[in-house]
Amino acid sequence: MTVSETEPVRKTDFPADFAWGTATAAYQIEGAVAEDGRSPSIWDTFSHTPGRVKNGENGDVACDHYHRWAEDLDLMAQLGLNAYRFSVAWPRVVPGGRGAVNARGLDFYDRLTDGLLSRGVDPYVTLYHWDLPQVLQDAGGWANRDTAYAFADYTDAVAGRLGDRVRGWITHNEPWCAAFLGNVVGVHAPGLQDLGTGLRASHHLLLSHGLGTEVIRAAVPNAQVGITLILGPHHPATDRPEDEAAARRGDGFLNRWFLDPVYGRGYPQDMLDLYRPYAPAFEEAIRPGDLETVAAPTDFLGVNYYQRTVVQDAPGENGLLGTRNLRPEGEYTAFDWEVYPDGLREILTRVHQDYAPPVMYVTENGAAYDDRPTPDGQIHDEPRRRYIERHLAACRDAMGAGVPLKGYFAWSLLDNFEWAEGYSKRFGLVRVDYPTQRRTVKDSGAWYGRLSRGAEE
Ligand code: IFM
Repeated sequence: MTVSETEPVRKTDFPADFAWGTATAAYQIEGAVAEDGRSPSIWDTFSHTPGRVKNGENGDVACDHYHRWAEDLDLMAQLGLNAYRFSVAWPRVVPGGRGAVNARGLDFYDRLTDGLLSRGVDPYVTLYHWDLPQVLQDAGGWANRDTAYAFADYTDAVAGRLGDRVRGWITHNEPWCAAFLGNVVGVHAPGLQDLGTGLRASHHLLLSHGLGTEVIRAAVPNAQVGITLILGPHHPATDRPEDEAAARRGDGFLNRWFLDPVYGRGYPQDMLDLYRPYAPAFEEAIRPGDLETVAAPTDFLGVNYYQRTVVQDAPGENGLLGTRNLRPEGEYTAFDWEVYPDGLREILTRVHQDYAPPVMYVTENGAAYDDRPTPDGQIHDEPRRRYIERHLAACRDAMGAGVPLKGYFAWSLLDNFEWAEGYSKRFGLVRVDYPTQRRTVKDSGAWYGRLSRGAEE
């Protein structure tokens, strides 16, 4: 534990205009999958395919947020939070993937936006948090270049409707997951296992980020636009040169593959060399002007941080990467993710030094624990509270080193549908009892609210 982590965090450690938020994503909380004209997404298909999600669970009902949104917004206001990051479901807004806009789908986000503003909470909208309309997957998904243009049209519809009230816009959430977990590892929708498809998907996701950024700027004059990446340091298992090279490959795979093109450097050459067997198909996907579009200037970078990776050289393992991720001694969450707060300081500082985004947010950080409600129904989740406090201490350290951090969004407001893990992993600051849909603020949520209000001083 660093010295700073042992010092309690206070509101006054952060700028007065700091965004104290929580984050969610449409498919993880909304439910109502067949209401008001919504079409199926790849996650509906995937979760309804036997064997894909733990216990055969799906997002059909999730937290029923589509109907209970006002109650959920009241919780945020009650806690005193001043920011909320949510995602818009593309299949609600453009059920056909491209073409006709479904006004009833947009109406929901319109109500949500007004509801936030009337409670003094700033909305931050994520346009794509993995719920691609299935009809677009049927035409090739993100491996098909047309999907990027369809995303730009969908973005235009959302920005046109919400842009008079929303300033914070995030084009994509964790394109690494969408491209690689979905198309290479196959543990996320659409569940494919092909590196070439994943590489093409990553380029089209980034292309759509650039196109979407331009669309938002045209529609919303004072917009603040960014992208959210999942990032984390990669530490070599030993100081052997082989392990150091392996850690660099891991860093290229997760971090630089996205950071480099977004910040105008194109795809990292060492990774292109590594992916050589797939390079012709990938390079063919990159058309003249694409890299300039991908590098459209942004106002901020959103960083999602959960853990570091300790990497060992392991020829023949982990596909072309030739790496093995170790499990160092330490503290772990219920997801078996290492608790390593200093990695957040490290990645924020490194990105600031290497890429210099004008503003940064931690757009996600949080922990799954096996909460055990006491007989009175309360959740004394001290491990989660400590997790968040220690990571906020890491943010404080990063700001001390010059990182222009303007906000922190805890993942997540509510316990929710944790993708391939179904409902087995609880990340919420607020417990959801799924059979009754009853919400209970956990100790961590009450503490985070007090911190954001300055009531912990
Ligand atoms: O639940 C996810 C979220 O959708 C994206 N970032 C990581 C979270 C925890 O796995």
